[in-house]
Amino acid sequence: MDNRCRICDGMVKGAVDLGMQPRANAFPLPGETSDEFFFRLTVGMCDSCTMVQLLEDIPQEVRYHDGYPYHASGSAGHRRHFEGIAETFLEAELTGRDPFIAEIGSNDGVMLAKIAEAGVRHLGVEPSREVAELSMSRGVQVLPEFFDESTAERICAEHGHADVVFGANAIAHISHLASVLRGVERLLARDGVFVFEEPYLGSVVAQTAFDMLYDEHSFVFSVRAIQAAAERFGLELVRVEHVPLHGGSMRYTLARPGQRPVSPAVHEWRGLEDAGRLAEHATLEDFGRRARRIGDDLAGLLGDLRAKGHRVVGYGAPAKAATVTNYCGIGPDVVPFVCDSTPSKQGRVIAGTHIPVKSPKAFSDDYPDYALLFAWNHAEEIMAKERKFSERGGRWILYVPEVHIV
Ligand code: TMP
Ligand code: ZN
Repeated sequence: MDNRCRICDGMVKGAVDLGMQPRANAFPLPGETSDEFFFRLTVGMCDSCTMVQLLEDIPQEVRYHDGYPYHASGSAGHRRHFEGIAETFLEAELTGRDPFIAEIGSNDGVMLAKIAEAGVRHLGVEPSREVAELSMSRGVQVLPEFFDESTAERICAEHGHADVVFGANAIAHISHLASVLRGVERLLARDGVFVFEEPYLGSVVAQTAFDMLYDEHSFVFSVRAIQAAAERFGLELVRVEHVPLHGGSMRYTLARPGQRPVSPAVHEWRGLEDAGRLAEHATLEDFGRRARRIGDDLAGLLGDLRAKGHRVVGYGAPAKAATVTNYCGIGPDVVPFVCDSTPSKQGRVIAGTHIPVKSPKAFSDDYPDYALLFAWNHAEEIMAKERKFSERGGRWILYVPEVHIV
């Protein structure tokens, strides 16, 4: 299956096929599962600009609806991380007279609440109503819309140019990325910066984290592809920093060409990507083969444990859990429920495989023999929280970078 690149109109050839998948964050109610939406989850790389992207895309209105259940402040680690970013912006970028910061996909306001507290002009752009309302209750100003070129023009007319435009785990979700980049270019002040952090292709490939692929991740960014995209839309990649979130993300800083010095890290990461052949189709195909092996190993292990009469429960219902369970055919017969601390996910089921989501209390009330850790990127925080489970002989099953038990 071939497609056109959403950035440069080049050819995108499919390399990884994870089969028919539902919307990862749909979380239907148990009675709402009869007419679920499925699409073919195929990921490929553009022959020309090397951007890794989904071949088939789901309309954004279907993905980011009023009840969108993901809360960016759902872990202590994430809260600390985003508050730290806000502090850095306040100290390093928002220091002029009456500065202004806009955030694309501001979710529950985990970052902007700190900015609002400091009394700095800001605007979150967030189309999902429930999370937007949460952020408003924290004092954050929100435009409840999708960000694109025309939204950018309106923001600019009303608030003036932005010293910082920020996005976290949001920019790679937007299939009209070209329009977003045109909008950011309009919105940025002359020496403003566009800072965004998203799961990093190098980390996804190195760890065979195939569960990072789902309907919302329209793109998986690399330094090379972002550098090319920036140039195409009149911007320059001036800084990159690897951050540990979501199993390995990259924070990119774009500025107007010549306005900021280009950090040596940009060149260094490009070198690492070239050495690792990250921009090669064969690398993605190999990743797809490793994903298949992990999927088979996990299904095999769960089958064995079940045959031996062991009880396995899932821990965490991140969007990733939809990819894994649907890819491996893991249903409630194998994993009777998963627990998750997000209230808006509880009482619902994982899309496609219909595994019920319960509160973490359901886990601690009756420890299983094994816990399958879907939220593996929060392993440290979760294992510390659930220390008693391990102390009582419970074991954790992980499947990244390969299936193992700890
Ligand atoms: P994420 O990997 O996309 O951030 O999603 C993590 C999910 O795991 C989210 O639904 C919240 C859930 N979670 C728990 O249930 N307990 C925890 O201690 C943590 C850190 C996350
Ligand atoms: Zn392209």
